[in-house]
Amino acid sequence: MEFIKTQNLENKTVKIIIDKEKSLNALNKQVLEELNETIKSEAVKKARVVIITGAGGKAFVAGADIAQMKEFSSISATKFSNLGHSVFSGLEALKAVTISHIDGFALGGGFELALSTDIILATENSKFGLPEVSLGLIPGFGGTQRLSRSVGTHFAKALTLTGEMVTADELYIKGLVYKTFENLESLEEFSLKLISKIASKGPHAVHVAKQTIQKGQNMGLSEALELEKQEFSLLFGTKESNEGISAFLEKRKPNF
Ligand code: CAA
Repeated sequence: MEFIKTQNLENKTVKIIIDKEKSLNALNKQVLEELNETIKSEAVKKARVVIITGAGGKAFVAGADIAQMKEFSSISATKFSNLGHSVFSGLEALKAVTISHIDGFALGGGFELALSTDIILATENSKFGLPEVSLGLIPGFGGTQRLSRSVGTHFAKALTLTGEMVTADELYIKGLVYKTFENLESLEEFSLKLISKIASKGPHAVHVAKQTIQKGQNMGLSEALELEKQEFSLLFGTKESNEGISAFLEKRKPNF
């Protein structure tokens, strides 16, 4: 791997670092392919939490690689978009809880990458945006759909149609960023606490909760509520829920 580095942390956590500092971690075909391979690795499959971050301290990811896109035809653009969608959907479907650590620019494909993770943590000096219209393009890795599902159509349209950048605090108010931090150090400190909290919960329940929210996004309300009923009911009688409920009643910590 040239541009993707991984680290194994406590609590079955894998940290994925996009490391292409010279172009602010821009996503080209190779970076996306390496990311794809990493997401499909055994380590990530077994992980309870996956952190995604960018190297260099200036950007999370400044978007798809504009220099590479210069040569694209519609056919190569379709292949590129397919690749990006497949990586981001793969990330969204992971069993693990995914957390973005953002310190700096999260633009275009970088913002779209963050949108496909479960929890977004960002430093106060981070900037988010979908500047594709400045290039005569539109977002091509899910941004036109995932942003509006997260923050609502009007705010998503305002960001996408103006290409304007917004701060982490503005997205915190919109509920997209879970928490903002003065610096990366305090972000990472908080993230470790969050991870140990996740690690103390029923692993299967965490996974099912994630998938139920995710699948429900693509359904009407009554169908999605049916899905919840089904998933809730299926958890009864499992070793994990027996242990969780017994532990509560016996006033002890569960041993999942
Ligand atoms: N692709 C390729 N290279 C990029 C890049 C990108 N998305 N973003 C930055 N770089 C490169 C710059 O070309 C520059 O390289 P050189 O040093 O070789 O000139 C280097 O990274 C540093 O960037 P700047 O000198 O521009 O740094 P800055 O501090 O002046 O500006 C920035 C930072 C505001 C993030 C600016 O770099 C910028 O606007 N980048 C492009 C952002 C963008 O338009 N992203 C969307 C891409 S399209 C997309 O993502 C489509 C999709 O949905 C699939």
